[in-house]
Amino acid sequence: MLTILHASDLQFGKPFRPRAAEAFRNLAFDTMPHLIVVSGDLTQRAKGREFKAAWEFLQRLPTVPLVVTPGNHDVPLYRVFERAVFPFWRWRRHIPRDVDSVARVAGAIIVGLNSAAPYQAIVNGRITGMQLNFARKAFESAPPGGARVLVIHHHFVPTPDGLGGAPMPGAKRILKQIEDMQVDVVLGGHVHQTHFSSSRDILPGTVAGVPLIATGTTTSRRGRGPERRRNSCNLVEILGDQIQVTPHHFEARGAAFKPGEKVSLRRAGMPMAVEYPDTLLAEPRG
Ligand SMILES: [Fe+2]
Repeated sequence: MLTILHASDLQFGKPFRPRAAEAFRNLAFDTMPHLIVVSGDLTQRAKGREFKAAWEFLQRLPTVPLVVTPGNHDVPLYRVFERAVFPFWRWRRHIPRDVDSVARVAGAIIVGLNSAAPYQAIVNGRITGMQLNFARKAFESAPPGGARVLVIHHHFVPTPDGLGGAPMPGAKRILKQIEDMQVDVVLGGHVHQTHFSSSRDILPGTVAGVPLIATGTTTSRRGRGPERRRNSCNLVEILGDQIQVTPHHFEARGAAFKPGEKVSLRRAGMPMAVEYPDTLLAEPRG
């Protein structure tokens, strides 16, 4: 079994909520996962002091492997020259992780891809063919049976309320490749609300699709839709043919993240749930 504590959209800067951050830290020490994932938007405006504060916070988490990816807020939206020429220099200066990265934990391979696209669509992101090749190569070295986890900030399937914006352009084509890489689960954020979807929502297929799991904003005031002004994170457990996700929400009273109901998802590539024909379920005729 692999246990992942998944946070996103920390948004260090104006919208940052220190109480939620401390509660997340407590949850991390209580759960002691194999791995912590932060799927982008560490900062609100990609400022040096915001990155510095974000990394100081991340260093105070338990010393388990940490996978972080950039989000659209981690490139300088308004500093146009910097965005055109050195969009990630502040990230590189303060965050000692490559923007595309590979981690190996307990037989699992975790690939983080940088979907922030400073030159094109800052808001809904891009993944290039080179990045997909990078991920494919990493997953090819996975031991048989080991979990394959992909971390990408932007979403591929719209939320039911449409909040969070348009999904990534080319979502179908990219998800087809992600299915071919036999990825078990994609973890992301950006939509600022807990959201479960699957590659099967937009791609046809006869086996279970890749679960796409977004968590809301873990430490900012920018929650949307059902999580307006709320903070969330997910505890993700990969075991056997199941991915189990326990969403946690910050409760101001008690200043802690409280677990919600556990959701069980079929691992990608497994047979879909068996559906019996109506005739077998009908009452026998007397
Ligand atoms: Fe974002």
